[in-house]
Amino acid sequence: DKGGWSSFMQKEVSEQPTAVADTLRGRLHDGRVVVGELEELGDDVLRSIRRITVIACGTAAYAGMVAKYAIEKWARVPVEVELSHEFRYREPVIGPDTLVISVSQSGETMDTLMAVKYAREAGARTISVCNTQGATIPRESDAAIYTHAGPEVAVASTKAFVAQIAALYLFGLHLARVLGTASAEELETAAYELEHVPAKLATVLEQGERIAQLAHWMADTRSVLFLGRHVGYPIALEGALKLKELAYIHAEGFAAGELKHGPIALIEPGQPVFVVVPSPRNSGSLHPKVVSNIQEIRARGARVIAIAEAGDAAVLPFADEVLRIPLAGPLFEPLLAVVPLQIFAMELSAAKGLDVDQPRNLAKSVTVE
Ligand code: F6R
Repeated sequence: DKGGWSSFMQKEVSEQPTAVADTLRGRLHDGRVVVGELEELGDDVLRSIRRITVIACGTAAYAGMVAKYAIEKWARVPVEVELSHEFRYREPVIGPDTLVISVSQSGETMDTLMAVKYAREAGARTISVCNTQGATIPRESDAAIYTHAGPEVAVASTKAFVAQIAALYLFGLHLARVLGTASAEELETAAYELEHVPAKLATVLEQGERIAQLAHWMADTRSVLFLGRHVGYPIALEGALKLKELAYIHAEGFAAGELKHGPIALIEPGQPVFVVVPSPRNSGSLHPKVVSNIQEIRARGARVIAIAEAGDAAVLPFADEVLRIPLAGPLFEPLLAVVPLQIFAMELSAAKGLDVDQPRNLAKSVTVE
């Protein structure tokens, strides 16, 4: 039941504040993160982990890429993120000190399931981040941290994505507490930030109309580029994926630092480029670097749509459009910045008269290789 919304996707995009709040529920206790499923696994197991490999496909892999920055920062354990179908065919170096975290909304993605089985046979510990109770992947894993986003019907993943990031962040904060790798203050601030994500997501959703208008103006666009840096990089990749699958438009996401290593050659007058801008307050030197990227592409005629923090005035002279996200700590911005990109892709699909919930050639869960 679409509950009055014109598509399941629209409904699910609007449910993101609840998806995150429900995923956090019972796991945050006055600034202390305790994930019951990890308690059951035991602190000794967590202390024995020397590296973490996240395996997933598509949007779920981008959630893993975002979480890598946070887990490494808080828990100081190296994290690599790999596509399940690449992982299982390359004889990965894993063993009992490796924790393999699979991320899957459906819990049935064949490549991810086979990668989990491979990891288990190699002696690794396995944790599943999954949105579907009792699905195959969590059953095949040592522990499951469920996301509580509720059923996701639209083929394009939205609320599951933000819930996956929230769950992986909870994992990172729990691990950091057990390992003692972050100060009590840092852990508390992060827990506080996490707790405020749902309300901030609701604020971002209020810009839906404006983004819809932008999408309508751009309905004839043939190619869109997305740039981001640090945690904004996987968000750029996710923005491009959403646009490809929903609006059938050629889209590419790049790490902003790569521009000069090739992609800037693509910029010609009128080329739309979405830029995920890090916060000017607490991202160190990243903010001026991304602003200077914006100047570089603008000088070559790009049409820049910046996704920037409220009050960030530095982007104004150079961006054609600015979509705002509320103030948040640097690691928490991706949870907010992805939303305008989801809405843009959804509205562009609708503007082109396409099936938003069931894009061509795609299935909700890929249970074949
Ligand atoms: C994109 C999308 C896919 C899935 C991918 C993994 O919008 O939905 O990229 O994220 O097929 O699916 P799960 O998470 O079910 O393993």
